[in-house]
Amino acid sequence: MSGEDTHAPAAGDPLAAGARAGGQRAARAPLRATLELSRPAARRLALATALGAGALAAAIGLIATSAWLISRSAQRPQESAVALAIVGVQFFALARGLLRYAERLVGHDAAFRVLAELRVRVYEQLERLAPLGLPTFRSGDLLARLVGDVEQVQDLLVRVLPPFAIALVVGALTVGLLAWMLPAAGLILLLALLLAGVLVPWLTGRLAARAEARQAVARGEMTAAVVDLIEGAPELAVNGATARQLQRALAADAELTDVASAAARTAGVGQGLTSLCAGLAMWGGLVAGVAAVRAGSLDGVLLAGIALVPLVAFELVAPLPAATQTLAAVRRSAARVFDVMDAPAPIQEPASPRPRAVQAADAAHPAQGRANVLCVRGLHSRYAGAGDWALAGVDLELAPGRRVAVVGSSGAGKSTLAGVLLRFLPYQRGSVALDGVEIAELDGEDYRRVIGLVTQDAHVFDNTLAENLRLARRQASDEELLAVLAQVRLLAWAERLPAGLQTELGERGARMSGGQRQRLAIARALLADFPLLVLDEPGEHLDTETADAIVADLLAGAPERGTLLITHRLSGLAEVDEVLVLERGAVIERGTHAALLAQGGRYAALWERERAYAGGAAPIGAGGGSAAGGALRRPRKTWKDQPW
Ligand SMILES: Nc1ncnc2c1ncn2[C@@H]1O[C@H](COP(=O)(O)OP(=O)(O)O)[C@@H](O)[C@H]1O
Ligand SMILES: [Mg+2]
Repeated sequence: MSGEDTHAPAAGDPLAAGARAGGQRAARAPLRATLELSRPAARRLALATALGAGALAAAIGLIATSAWLISRSAQRPQESAVALAIVGVQFFALARGLLRYAERLVGHDAAFRVLAELRVRVYEQLERLAPLGLPTFRSGDLLARLVGDVEQVQDLLVRVLPPFAIALVVGALTVGLLAWMLPAAGLILLLALLLAGVLVPWLTGRLAARAEARQAVARGEMTAAVVDLIEGAPELAVNGATARQLQRALAADAELTDVASAAARTAGVGQGLTSLCAGLAMWGGLVAGVAAVRAGSLDGVLLAGIALVPLVAFELVAPLPAATQTLAAVRRSAARVFDVMDAPAPIQEPASPRPRAVQAADAAHPAQGRANVLCVRGLHSRYAGAGDWALAGVDLELAPGRRVAVVGSSGAGKSTLAGVLLRFLPYQRGSVALDGVEIAELDGEDYRRVIGLVTQDAHVFDNTLAENLRLARRQASDEELLAVLAQVRLLAWAERLPAGLQTELGERGARMSGGQRQRLAIARALLADFPLLVLDEPGEHLDTETADAIVADLLAGAPERGTLLITHRLSGLAEVDEVLVLERGAVIERGTHAALLAQGGRYAALWERERAYAGGAAPIGAGGGSAAGGALRRPRKTWKDQPW
């Protein structure tokens, strides 16, 4: 393998590709991207538009034939043309309704297909970004993008493009029809339609774009404020900040109301102007028609049609101001959706992943029959845009049966190391190899069947206790679940739950204490039975005694597992094979607990400090904020208080 501080030739390429994708973000034009995405539904959309055009053409045919029929009937003629016109009226009246119905059916079907496709793409992208690419988006804002914006985007295909296409085609036909009857009337209609179909939408569109820009921002702000308000309720209450946060939500709400009324005003002005144009066209046609009849250049029976056709023709342009307004909304929403879609994934999956050197003997028990040796050499990792290395030359070896601890103060790079080892984060130099294969070349999901992670803030899903555990292993029996709960000392608690394993845990495990959530996360990892397990500060939300007990259990249980224990507490580390002291991303000391104490360096100093604090005070290096946050939600108990 490659030496220290050099690009690992095997790992270099895929990682560099990831870095490049992160560096220059392809700025896709959001509307074009939406259209590209809709291409599979293009024929359905074209059909829907044709049906819509047919419906409006039928409406115009209906008014023209009826007007002629009524005028002609007044002359009491005895001709077959009248009978034909009666059939025409019936035909157009029926066709109009049927075509409109069919248009709605086909159009929405197509739009929903595009919507479904887009949703799937967004979820896939979220999967690529999670867990470490997401923090750039606020979670409430992300929710708004997922639900509202994605849905808004489909309006392009239902409410924006078809009305314009229909207005263009049917408008030209109608103007042609009128011009054939009376050129002057055709010209008047053309001018009025242009005014109402181009100038008015342009005007309302400009106003709407301004409102939309404000609205999308206000909507994101509103969602974020409300999510913060609900999720941070305990912290806000304790710090007396609820009123301020409420003010923030109210301000966002006021802004939204303001924008909505501006949009309504714009829509109203658009509709008013369109009606005005329609009236002008009708009167213009009538005046020109009367003059032509007087002059003898127009048959009187056509006069009614000339006056009435323009009124119906304005059905064509009536939806256009709203369509331009929607277009502005769609553009904003599409931009926000494709912001997420085009966000660079922190890690690029290899185009053709290499198989693991040692394959699973039994998928249900991945621990069996493998080497699973993870070898880290000269590891350097840096966050995108950061100047300093978060990890600057780490060497370590993790193998089944081996227990390694990484200690270091806050910000030393411990969680970054966990992220890199799980292949959530890229590394730029050095090598991380599983059984001799660089992990960048392995399929991420396959690789993560070998190595598991318990984080500081494990998520508890709004589901039953059993389902929360079976996330780790679908086919686990109830007995296995109970056994693993016993291992993390949650069994007595689980047995006291109203419905046992089937008890709903509430959103984010609302019915559990911080420590119980943490232990549930550990239970999950134990159940998954990873050959290698990384524990990132598993005692973070626990009181020191419970934390120490859990760590001791973890190290004592499953001796065949390889464990990397990241911790800021040193007690219990006598049990591990090697301790690495990390500072500013570099290993400054390494060895066994005893050897490090004897060395009298940094580790020995940390040990002294921890012993001085012993008796209940804060552990060294504890992130004060998060520890306090954990304590806030539930009163702390020592593990001896718990009737396990
Ligand atoms: N997402 C991130 N983007 C940029 N820098 C980060 C990010 N996460 C952590 N860092 C930086 O990397 C360093 C190591 O952080 P971390 O691994 O979380 O430390 P520890 O887990 O030891 O407390 C710190 O300087 C931190 O500021
Ligand atoms: Mg950390």
